[in-house]
Amino acid sequence: VTVSAAESFVPVPDERVGALGMTCVRVQGYGVSLVDGLLRPGDRQLLDAIGDRRALVVTTPTVARLYGAALRRVLAPAGTRVRVAVMHSGEPAKEIETVLDVCAAAQEAGIGRRDVLVAFGGGVCCDVVTLAAGLIRRGVAYLTVPTTLVGQVDAGIGLKGGVNFAGSKNYLGCFHAPEGSLVDLGLLRTLPEVELRCGLAEILKMALVRDPDLFALLGERGEELVRTRFAPDRADAEWVAARAIELMLAELEPNCYEDQTLCRLVDFGHTISPALEERSGHRIRHAQAVAIDMALSCEIATELGWLAPDACATVLHTFRRLGLPLFHPLLTADVVAAGLHGATAHRGGELNLVLPTSVGTARFLVRPEDLPASAVAAALRCLRRRAR
Ligand SMILES: NC(=O)c1ccc[n+]([C@@H]2O[C@H](COP(=O)([O-])OP(=O)(O)OC[C@H]3O[C@@H](n4cnc5c(N)ncnc54)[C@H](O)[C@@H]3O)[C@@H](O)[C@H]2O)c1
Repeated sequence: VTVSAAESFVPVPDERVGALGMTCVRVQGYGVSLVDGLLRPGDRQLLDAIGDRRALVVTTPTVARLYGAALRRVLAPAGTRVRVAVMHSGEPAKEIETVLDVCAAAQEAGIGRRDVLVAFGGGVCCDVVTLAAGLIRRGVAYLTVPTTLVGQVDAGIGLKGGVNFAGSKNYLGCFHAPEGSLVDLGLLRTLPEVELRCGLAEILKMALVRDPDLFALLGERGEELVRTRFAPDRADAEWVAARAIELMLAELEPNCYEDQTLCRLVDFGHTISPALEERSGHRIRHAQAVAIDMALSCEIATELGWLAPDACATVLHTFRRLGLPLFHPLLTADVVAAGLHGATAHRGGELNLVLPTSVGTARFLVRPEDLPASAVAAALRCLRRRAR
């Protein structure tokens, strides 16, 4: 299955360009391919994607321990032209120093303008390698092979790289599209259950704002998908992954560089979550914070009369059944305010809070002044009570 994301929106020539000026246009497309057996001995899919270029395949310690030998085996026919580097991992390592480590390894491996990096790891690895690829010689090609479910349906298939900086989530980053993404569900075989549930949270995010059927299916079969670790031979696993990827790319494509609008449905669950992640010192996983933010957003939508109380109850019940957190003691009024404030700064002075209006549809609350503090406080109280 290949789902394409083409950056196909060719801007019309900019009328502000005068006699001395120019229009800068870059059109690039990439495919996300659901593949199978990427690390099977003799498999050539990764080598074929690299072609005859030099490559630096960047992975992380856990992934290297689990898959390093198999990875080196499939890459062996390329000899020293393709090297493997292991970067630090985890959210605390998502910092500029790790990007610089990757750049140093690329320099050491002789990566030049026409060569390629490969991110072979979770969302953190993909974020770091994307930024490194954007920096090296002002932009070299890269491929992603996401090894977590979060990476496969979200972090590893978009075009954003980023690291945290001075306490701000993703403060440093870039837009730099990959050449392609290879998604092998077989790599999820070793993924801890909690990380699979994190992936489900990101899929539920898209389902809740765009696809009631996907939401219903996850409600029914999500637990089993976790238990069977998205076994690639299960038709429903492949369907869920493909649908989640398709929904994500469809949202990203018309606004790849976020220069068309800062109202983005994919920001559902991403308004208060950065503040919560930061406040926890990144002990709360990204997708868990997203789940809590989505739960609070549902409560806020209900307080405002945008979402029916029974729909809100259904959503939160599904989250709970799938082992996703609804609340955390660190979710105080103070953290919520910091999240709302941070999002408004990030979104050019608008809040653009994504609030569900039913299972499968959502609307934006655009202006921060349209969100009454009393509704937020009441939503927080309801959520705390419900999560007990
Ligand atoms: N750029 C984007 O558009 C975007 C979108 C969503 C999330 N993100 C970012 O992605 C990050 C979260 O990604 P994540 O959830 O993948 O976290 P992660 O990269 O930290 O991986 C989670 C854990 O899974 C382990 N792991 C990875 N693959 C494994 C495998 N196959 N088997 C066993 N263990 C494995 C890792 O070692 C790690 O401990 C956050 O920093 C978030 O901000 C970015």
